[in-house]
Amino acid sequence: MANVKTHTFDAVIVGAGGAGLMAALYASRKANVAVISKLYPTRSHTGAAQGGIGAALGNMEEDRWEWHAYDTVKGSDYLADQDAVDVLCKEAVDTVVELEHMGLPFDRYPNGTISQRRFGGHTNNETGKPVMRACHAADRTGHMILQTLYQQCIKNKVNFFDEFHVVDLIRVDNTVRGVVAIEISTGDFHVFHSKAVHFATGGWGRCWEVTSNAHSLTGDGAAICLRRGVPLEDMEFFQFHPTGIFRLGVLITEGVRGEGGVLLNSKGERFMEKYAPTIKDLASRDVVSRAIYLEVQAGRGINGQNYVHLDIRPETVNHYFEQAGEKRRIDREYIEAKLPDIADFTRTYLGVDPVTEPMPVQPTAHYAMGGIPTDVDGRVLANVDGSLIDGLYAAGECACVSVHGANRLGTNSLVDLVVFGRRSGNHMAEYCNQTDLLPLPDDPAGEVMAEFERLRNGSGGVKPVELRSKMQKSMTANVGVFRTEETMATAVSDLHELREAYSRNIQIDDKGKLFNTDLLEAWELGCLLELAEVTAESAKARKESRGGHARDDFQKRNDQEWLKHTFYFRTEDGGYRLDYKPVTLGRYEPKERVY
Ligand code: FUM
Repeated sequence: MANVKTHTFDAVIVGAGGAGLMAALYASRKANVAVISKLYPTRSHTGAAQGGIGAALGNMEEDRWEWHAYDTVKGSDYLADQDAVDVLCKEAVDTVVELEHMGLPFDRYPNGTISQRRFGGHTNNETGKPVMRACHAADRTGHMILQTLYQQCIKNKVNFFDEFHVVDLIRVDNTVRGVVAIEISTGDFHVFHSKAVHFATGGWGRCWEVTSNAHSLTGDGAAICLRRGVPLEDMEFFQFHPTGIFRLGVLITEGVRGEGGVLLNSKGERFMEKYAPTIKDLASRDVVSRAIYLEVQAGRGINGQNYVHLDIRPETVNHYFEQAGEKRRIDREYIEAKLPDIADFTRTYLGVDPVTEPMPVQPTAHYAMGGIPTDVDGRVLANVDGSLIDGLYAAGECACVSVHGANRLGTNSLVDLVVFGRRSGNHMAEYCNQTDLLPLPDDPAGEVMAEFERLRNGSGGVKPVELRSKMQKSMTANVGVFRTEETMATAVSDLHELREAYSRNIQIDDKGKLFNTDLLEAWELGCLLELAEVTAESAKARKESRGGHARDDFQKRNDQEWLKHTFYFRTEDGGYRLDYKPVTLGRYEPKERVY
């Protein structure tokens, strides 16, 4: 292994967002752990989560974790595994208290308890009305979680390898032996030899044109696992958040609607009254995104374009509060205190002051419900029978436990990160303490180094940016909020062509070694293309509509045939096969969703 440095740890965690840091914090109490991140940790995408973390604390009104569980299952369109949902919602409560004790600066009520706001799909199960469940730190909740966990990890002396980009998993038969990474500043390859590997690398919203996801969200962990024989679960389910800034996709938190904001079409109509008569603007995200799309299609987009207005102006909100018989009122100071970041974003990016003007919004590619299949301890599944891959763990958006099923409720991503980050970190430490370090295979970095040389030296004249833009356009047009057999077949064929061009004709400009982001972005594009294809193929096979997968040609949910999880496997000839696994049901029998 000429020029390859080897490091040895009990466990390596790839990714330093909420899931990676929580796993590191727990694992590092009993094992020697390294966190490897292609970013500086506090720049991880968890920091972009705004509105809150859901936990049935019941600080302002009655709430129960079982209500949270029911809302999560209903929001998932009954595809979530109910045993895992129980773990999520029950453990959410003490995890939030734990974060508070670590020093997370939550907003507070005058009596000192954590402030909670309403969020989409979270209800009082007895009245069906929205309940205050989202614990928040203004509209910077994810940012505060990230800062808090990073400080705790530093205090616990976790080993960080910042700006090291993991590009391969070392797998031998059914065991993992570590990962291969590139040190971004030098271009050198490093092997991290370990007993266990944990992926917490986030999502792949960059497959679409308009997305709330950071540039770094390129699905590296999921793509690496797929290439090393791990299946991917429920990849057809990708969430479009209803309120991204028009054209830019930057997130405008659902907390705006939680604080009373409403969606209006070009006629000034509060159109969600029609689509979700009980909880209106706070219906689940799949429902609201489809409603916006249908309003635009019916010619009621603002200025004839594909966006609507999100209105948090005090006069509008107070009017609707009054109409609903609610006592509370909001004003400029309240908006500045509760939603400072989104006010800043719209002022900066659009020149729109949300206190005096409505904000132009459109659905934005936001969250992968599917991913690397795991059990509730983060252990990665090898197949639909539940066999495990020894030493391999995943948590957070790159993983599929499955608690979000076909559609995730807002605030549940942050819960997922900390609950399953904690469980997987704990389990991994125990695993490392009972396991010997297995030897590395010969030349563990050789294969991926050869791929990087191919990308560096390619001379076919096709620039990564061209392929990326074609992929994003095709995924937006064909595998977006609504889909049909024809559009998905178009996407599949586009992606085959793009992947072919990627493997034959790619050419980058920067041939150097140091900080070669041109090269790394070309490699990331390979991950995106692969995951886009998995998404399109998995979606095309599912002949029903459920949650975030809405087909014009199969408009109904079909529990008889499709109450099951998709497992996508890459085959040795570069093709694929699909397998299916029954959903774990529990207290809640599937029924029609009414909001
Ligand atoms: O709308 C939001 O603040 C996003 C939260 C989430 O995706 O959970």
